[in-house]
Amino acid sequence: MSEREKFYITTPIYYPDNRLHIGHTYTTVAADALARYHRLRGRDTFYLTGTDEHGQKIEQAARTRKVDPQAFVDEMVHWIQDLWSELGISYDGFIRTTDEQHMKVVGRIFTRLYEQGDIYSSTYAGWYCTPCESFFPRGRIEEGVCPDCGRELSWVEEDGYFLALSRYADDLLAHIREDAEFIQPATRRNEMIRFLESGLEDMCVTRRRDAVNWGIPVPFDEDYVIYVWFDAVCNYITAIGYGEDEDSFSHWWPADVHLIGKEILRFHCVIWPIILMALGVELPHKVFGHGWLTLGGEKISKSRGNVVDPFALSEKYGRDAVRYYLLREIPFGADGSYTERALVERTNYDLANDLGNLLSRVTAMLNKYCEGRLVRPGGEPAEEDRHLQEQANDAVAGATSALEDNMLSDALDSLWNLVSAANKYLDRTAPWDAQTAADRRSAILYNAAESLRILAVALRPFLLDAPAGIWEQLGLTAHRPVDATSWDDTAWGAIPDGTLVRRGDPLFPRMDPDEVVGPAEDPDVEEEQEEGVETLLDYDAFMEMDLRVGRVVDAGDIEGADRLLRVRVDLGEAGTIQVVAGIAEHYSPDDLVGRRVVVVANLQPTEIFGIKSEGMVLAAEAGKEMSLVTLDKDMPPGSKVK
Ligand code: MSP
Repeated sequence: MSEREKFYITTPIYYPDNRLHIGHTYTTVAADALARYHRLRGRDTFYLTGTDEHGQKIEQAARTRKVDPQAFVDEMVHWIQDLWSELGISYDGFIRTTDEQHMKVVGRIFTRLYEQGDIYSSTYAGWYCTPCESFFPRGRIEEGVCPDCGRELSWVEEDGYFLALSRYADDLLAHIREDAEFIQPATRRNEMIRFLESGLEDMCVTRRRDAVNWGIPVPFDEDYVIYVWFDAVCNYITAIGYGEDEDSFSHWWPADVHLIGKEILRFHCVIWPIILMALGVELPHKVFGHGWLTLGGEKISKSRGNVVDPFALSEKYGRDAVRYYLLREIPFGADGSYTERALVERTNYDLANDLGNLLSRVTAMLNKYCEGRLVRPGGEPAEEDRHLQEQANDAVAGATSALEDNMLSDALDSLWNLVSAANKYLDRTAPWDAQTAADRRSAILYNAAESLRILAVALRPFLLDAPAGIWEQLGLTAHRPVDATSWDDTAWGAIPDGTLVRRGDPLFPRMDPDEVVGPAEDPDVEEEQEEGVETLLDYDAFMEMDLRVGRVVDAGDIEGADRLLRVRVDLGEAGTIQVVAGIAEHYSPDDLVGRRVVVVANLQPTEIFGIKSEGMVLAAEAGKEMSLVTLDKDMPPGSKVK
């Protein structure tokens, strides 16, 4: 954190080529929680997110859907903004790289670096990964497969403009070594140090217009557009007025944290700082690379086909459950596996049982024994009361220090110490016991309610509905809405004397995981499964079928056939076959390239719409839904399926 009382946090800007999944949501929810915390601390906070709208990937996605790229991204951006509003993401700025101001300023930055010799013209010959929009110079890649996403690379040979990364490599390395805060966590910092130590090559920062047209034009050469990553990283300064509004820019810059996923570290810890150094602009205080949400051991990503829809999850379980699960389950910085069952269990144990029950117990006993009235205890606190108060202070202090370090899961761990301390305090002091004197009972319930009040405030960065629910049931809304509280309100002892609690519905209903997660969710699926097995197939007949793992290397539309796609599948040693598949209503060609699928490889070849089809790609169908049969491990193309 900078010493100034401002906090500027950014997420990566998202590619609007597809709908976002739960992995994307992870970065955004985390940044939102941090932004909310800093606002509660009274810091002038700016949380920037947005969309990365140029480049080959977007151009191709729009072409596949036969729409103009601008119309395509305009529609997708609305979908993304709706998702952020569903999850209560409190961004202060939303930049689109097609915004006029951004485009103008990026053009100027490019020209300036060219004029001062940091950008020069040369020839690029090497690999390009369109889904990652990354260059991989010759020699670094062996098989023409992207080391990041595993998809096929395209060979690119074109004249272009290069950014002189090598000029700044030593200065950058020195900066990373000197400032231990700059790249976090430490494992990522070490990774970047090793990367820089292995030598830095200059990087091509343009695409030829005849290859990629959808980008910011190079102002002084009409044959080129600016490389999408150069364009994209500049968003962090163009959005706050760089080159246009000096007051705004100098107020917010340098960024306090760029929060990003670990796979885009190089762009943020090498290319971006070097652009800034070349411009003579201070570097951001910190780049924090968080880990991945994985499913079946693999990163959740469109290319692996294991995506989980955050909209559907939030509608099913509520935004607080989804936010809490993401921020608590995975130690921030590390990878963590996603399962819907774990989400349900977390909601049951932590939110419904621990937190929700604490509130119901306290409000129920206050109603039963104290006419719903909270009375501030007088006299000397008992030893156990003092202990609870200490535990509350420790929990808040732990959360504060974790949040200052961006360690969201640690902050929640610390707050849950208070949830469990307050439950134990009630168990130990047993206010329901007939032996307990009336004023002692009242003091105990006040202390337990006070713990809940502190939790309601301290949970505001993480949960959006529960704090107001707790506040309302503790009868505090009449004094001051929870939204008007600040982090200072986590200090002990603030419930006004005579406050009347009002018991309400449980904060979080308990769920039966078998019922909510089980396969019986979709009645259509059940029906089909029951009807499914009609005749029994003899074993030999089954073994005659040659099922193989295939990797989609290319896919395209078929003129005049809306439901069909032409798919080329690599079957390893057996070579590449072409299949006509009836999946166009469910998958775009872009969705398919790079995926592992299962193919019937020994079907009699046939012609469909004049196109040769040499096999069949397996897919599951239920009602209107269709899902390709995929693999949960990375098996080599050609592997036998049986
Ligand atoms: N457009 C670039 C970023 C440009 S920033 C100048 C990009 N976009 S993205 O849409 O592919 O990814 C956006 C963010 O989502 C990244 O931080 C990425 O790490 C994150 N995630 C995508 N899948 C993820 C998981 N499965 N798990 C956690 N986060 C991951 O990259």
